[in-house]
Amino acid sequence: MQDLFDPSGEKEALHEPLDEGAMLLRGFAAARDTMLLAAIDSIATAAPFRRMITPGGFEMSVAMTNCGTAGWVTDRKGYRYARHDPDSGKPWPHLPKEFLDLAKAAAMEAGFPGFVPDACLVNRYEPGTRLSLHQDRDEADYGHPIVSVSLGLPATFQFGGLKRSDPVKKVALRHGDVVVWGGASRLFHHGVLTLKDGEHPLTGRRRFNITMRKAL
Ligand code: SIN
Ligand code: FE2
Repeated sequence: MQDLFDPSGEKEALHEPLDEGAMLLRGFAAARDTMLLAAIDSIATAAPFRRMITPGGFEMSVAMTNCGTAGWVTDRKGYRYARHDPDSGKPWPHLPKEFLDLAKAAAMEAGFPGFVPDACLVNRYEPGTRLSLHQDRDEADYGHPIVSVSLGLPATFQFGGLKRSDPVKKVALRHGDVVVWGGASRLFHHGVLTLKDGEHPLTGRRRFNITMRKAL
């Protein structure tokens, strides 16, 4: 199954280690792009994208929604995982099997066999939006990796270290790229620089990111 992603057999070219436990898999999701985007569309029909409010009272520039058993939310009360969409009171849409398969395959490829996510955050970036440097630390167990899929317009991903002040690598993420981080880099700071304007044949003036985690 995994080899569908690498018909040329040039597996090594897919792997770009970023740090200990962190790996960029170039184009790993590219063959599944239309399926992923169609799934994002149906998720957003059931649970529309919204700009959430940080505990400090700022509206995030990136619009978000979720699927899975739990979804990541923020409001004046704080950051957390919630089983229901606070906007509708309904459970989040199911995590599509195709997302699960992709997350498992990517995690395996990066050295984390047995990964089964239960939460999927879907981010929508428009030109001018950004996600400042942060850690993913609202999950119950940091023993599980994070699988992050990029679709649409390219972006510059920042990947730092445990301390916010640690040096930051800048990584160009393009349509179909997947980043996996876990182990020693599970709590490393990361973010996305302000999205430049552009036009992507499948997404127009937008970038989507789906981030899968084991949250509960
Ligand atoms: C995130 O940190 O949740 C998103 C990262 C990305 O958009 O690439
Ligand atoms: Fe994150």
